[in-house]
Amino acid sequence: MDTASVNRLVLDWYAANARDLPWRRPPYLGDAYAVLVSEVMLQQTQVDRTVPKFLDFMARFPSVHALAEAPPGDVIALWSGMGYNNRAVRLQRLAEVVVADHAGEIPRDVDTLLTLPGIGPYTASAVACFAYGASVPVVDTNIYRVLSRLVHGVQAPSRAEVEPLATEFLPATEASSWHQALMDIGATICTVQTPRCMLCPVRETCAAAPALQDGTNRKLAEASVPYAPKQAKFAGSSRYYRGRIVEALRQAPPGGLPLAGVDALFSEPPAGGLPQIIDSLVRDGLAICECDTLRLP
Ligand code: ADE
Repeated sequence: MDTASVNRLVLDWYAANARDLPWRRPPYLGDAYAVLVSEVMLQQTQVDRTVPKFLDFMARFPSVHALAEAPPGDVIALWSGMGYNNRAVRLQRLAEVVVADHAGEIPRDVDTLLTLPGIGPYTASAVACFAYGASVPVVDTNIYRVLSRLVHGVQAPSRAEVEPLATEFLPATEASSWHQALMDIGATICTVQTPRCMLCPVRETCAAAPALQDGTNRKLAEASVPYAPKQAKFAGSSRYYRGRIVEALRQAPPGGLPLAGVDALFSEPPAGGLPQIIDSLVRDGLAICECDTLRLP
């Protein structure tokens, strides 16, 4: 089947089955700032957890100007439960840069978006495509898995074999719906372990469907996922200690926590020592240390 027919089947499926997510409907639809906030959140946080946080965020910081003027500590406080707190600091800095250097307008093209704090290739292309309708490939793990199975079946291909697919299948119009459709298919049908091929709009043409469609072969399904990045161990990692400290600062009185109180959070100190973890938080703009007290910036 040709790519145009695959595009049509997927876009028709999306018209009837798109998940109802807040950044896909007014007043956020077409608002580049809202798209950017949602995509930064979705980089590393599941959709279900992101939805309420996105709504809180937009209510508290409704515009790029409001975010630029906010104390970073307020943004970090709101980020509770999202993980990867650096994103909150970078998002606030990004708003300052957009106001200072781009007249308060989120840039439209991928290269300029890439110069902003915290924006990598995924977020830059997602914003260009979803906010401004640019026909550029957007690739996340769901999209890769769907396209890879469609073309390469259950043989997990190399990165070099999968990457061109995003461009090969990119439709000339409706790129935003196309990518968000693939995300929805990946999240709800073409899942890692239990793909439900019977529900898939492209099952007839999918190279993996004959092997996966009875939904029972989890091992085979998992083995067909291209280069799924391994999650680093969380317990005992510096990310764990950093997250615990930032959460304690969120709960602390406005003056912050004495360093002795930070020590007391842990029965077992981190291997490299707590001062090193605290320094890294200060360096990243997640905390301020003054007079033996640690607080949000
Ligand atoms: N994951 C990343 N971006 C998304 C979007 N716009 N909709 C649903 N899931 C996503």
